[in-house]
Amino acid sequence: MDLTNKHAVITGGSSGIGFAMAQAIAASGAYVTITGRDRGKLLEAASTYSNIQPQVCDVTDDEGVVALRDAMNAIGGTDLLVNNAGIMNWFDIKHGFPLEKQLQEIDIDVSGPVRLVHHFLPGLLQRESAIVNVSSGLAYVPYASALIYSASKAFLHAYTQCLRAQLASTSVRVFELLPPVIDTPLAADLEPSFPRMSPEKLVSNFLKGLKNNSEEITPGQSAQLKLMRRVAPGYIFKQLNKQQQT
Ligand SMILES: NC(=O)c1ccc[n+]([C@@H]2O[C@H](COP(=O)([O-])OP(=O)(O)OC[C@H]3O[C@@H](n4cnc5c(N)ncnc54)[C@H](OP(=O)(O)O)[C@@H]3O)[C@@H](O)[C@H]2O)c1
Repeated sequence: MDLTNKHAVITGGSSGIGFAMAQAIAASGAYVTITGRDRGKLLEAASTYSNIQPQVCDVTDDEGVVALRDAMNAIGGTDLLVNNAGIMNWFDIKHGFPLEKQLQEIDIDVSGPVRLVHHFLPGLLQRESAIVNVSSGLAYVPYASALIYSASKAFLHAYTQCLRAQLASTSVRVFELLPPVIDTPLAADLEPSFPRMSPEKLVSNFLKGLKNNSEEITPGQSAQLKLMRRVAPGYIFKQLNKQQQT
């Protein structure tokens, strides 16, 4: 996809992967709208490029998502929708964890992308366009300490495959980016032993994938997880979750 003069929306564009994507996509000549809940963070992120616009929008808020869609339509419509906003809770369920937080994680990581696709799809179907869902390498092999997160990303993976199949005969291309551990605030509390990739390197892999029409983009260790899930699913699950079993 040639990004010049295209209109892109990136949810969760004020930090980490979304911010790095916004910068790279803006540098490619697109107009980028970034969203998030924190206005201050958004304004700071948007100040880096004149073609990045901030819009406060919580992906769990239906009215907010409709307003975002309408604002995009008012400037000519959306060519690229990136469902990137996400959170990860990391907890030991034996010690309890507020149900409200578990359900909020599902609302953001699962219902968020479904809501965005629902409201943006009619417009996307009117033009050559693309949807990018940012899931995780953990969609292939779940990580027990992040159980709601892993299950949410597995949902997003299956949802993206089905969406792609349903839209195959339309003008909408469907991509999935499955990052490995990336050096962002979301992964700050993860075990230090996990190797981390920079958001910039991830985004460079992502743009190559987009250019080559790779529907499932699996940078770094995500490619290994994908392979191992096929050839030795029990082994790779145990390896990833060693600490839970000792
Ligand atoms: N970092 C990793 O290791 C890693 C690995 C695999 C996949 N991922 C995925 O990559 C995506 C981005 O993660 P990241 O590492 O870049 O995290 P991050 O640095 O924490 O950024 C998350 C972004 O999402 C926004 N956000 C959170 N909840 C939101 C909501 N309800 N509505 C709208 N925006 C919301 C945040 O802004 P506000 O808080 O202001 O709303 C922020 O802009 C996530 O989907 C994550 O699951 C990350």
